Amino acid sequence: MPTTFQAMVVTETAPGQFQRAIVTRNLSDLPPGEVLLRVRYSSLNYKDALSASGNRGVTRCYPHTPGIDAAGEVLESGSPDFSPGEAVIVSCYDLGMNTPGGFAQYIRVPAKWIMPLPAGLALRESMIYGTAGFTAAQSVDRLERHPVLPEQGKILVTGATGGVGSMAVAMLSLSGFSVAAATGKPEQEQFLRDLGAQDIVSRENSIDRSGRMLLKEKWAGVIDTVGGEMLATAIKSTRYGGAVTCCGNAASPDLPLNVYPFILRGVSLIGIDSAECPMAVRLPIWEKIATTWRLPNLERLTTEISLKELDRHIECILQGKQRGRVVLNLDA
Ligand SMILES: NC(=O)c1ccc[n+]([C@@H]2O[C@H](COP(=O)([O-])OP(=O)(O)OC[C@H]3O[C@@H](n4cnc5c(N)ncnc54)[C@H](OP(=O)(O)O)[C@@H]3O)[C@@H](O)[C@H]2O)c1
Repeated sequence: MPTTFQAMVVTETAPGQFQRAIVTRNLSDLPPGEVLLRVRYSSLNYKDALSASGNRGVTRCYPHTPGIDAAGEVLESGSPDFSPGEAVIVSCYDLGMNTPGGFAQYIRVPAKWIMPLPAGLALRESMIYGTAGFTAAQSVDRLERHPVLPEQGKILVTGATGGVGSMAVAMLSLSGFSVAAATGKPEQEQFLRDLGAQDIVSRENSIDRSGRMLLKEKWAGVIDTVGGEMLATAIKSTRYGGAVTCCGNAASPDLPLNVYPFILRGVSLIGIDSAECPMAVRLPIWEKIATTWRLPNLERLTTEISLKELDRHIECILQGKQRGRVVLNLDA
């Protein structure tokens, strides 16, 4: 086993100034933990970009290696649950936040953060889904269990070309829903239609600033990834008895809204968290990703990169310009 490896390290060079570099690290730099993993693939999520740019809400201490997702093989295990050679996924919990993460060829983590690679999924494929795919799958699952049914009408997905959004469009479509995709990237209309979107809604037309408390009922359900005025507009436009999932704040953490959609239309707002999602919930969702929501068009929404190319993709996702999913190949 080599004693050194490559990792992205983010360093605070002056107060509030952060620099990213690919550096050689020693295995002895990793924190104590039960299981040492050789990471083969990771992925880029919005939260990684925040960690990689010094956001203290995500990462308190620097120098730091981001990467909330990792897939690879067990090298050493102090846990009876995992054996050397086993293919596994670590996604969320504290990985990449305040624990050195998957933008590195090795990680060491507690066994309770690890899950076996679901049967039928390859390591690379699992990281194309990653946290974004898992969050999209959780959101679709919660709508279905509400229940919101395909015959009740269209589902709106906001931030539709992003990681969570694009996965949600594709999974909803596989589940038989008619999908309206709200996007700020009109040039990506064909990309969204290829994933299964039937309608494309511009970002401007997804935000109502009239001040009206309720709007015309349009959506049977909504998967929101952006928050702010767009989420408020979507909730006000949800049909009687419908449901709206909320997982992100790509536009804003605010929610300028009154209670009328809830008390006059019985609309439900469902919070989605992937970071601390317990294994008992996590495993069945991944099982569905590997079966029901295994996307036939996965490569269409995937960009594969090496560690050296990561920096520019971090800038891209911070500017809201990312399309689909970026998978990081740690052997490239
Ligand atoms: N709750 C959880 O556990 C959880 C898990 C994963 C992600 N998240 C959150 O979900 C959000 C999306 O994550 P992601 O990884 O999919 O990020 P992403 O790939 O960057 O996607 C976000 C998308 O939102 C849209 N957008 C960006 N800025 C916007 C703005 N100012 N106004 C309106 N739309 C905007 C863009 O899509 P269009 O150009 O198509 O509009 C962008 O591609 C983030 O806030 C992330 O932190 C939460």
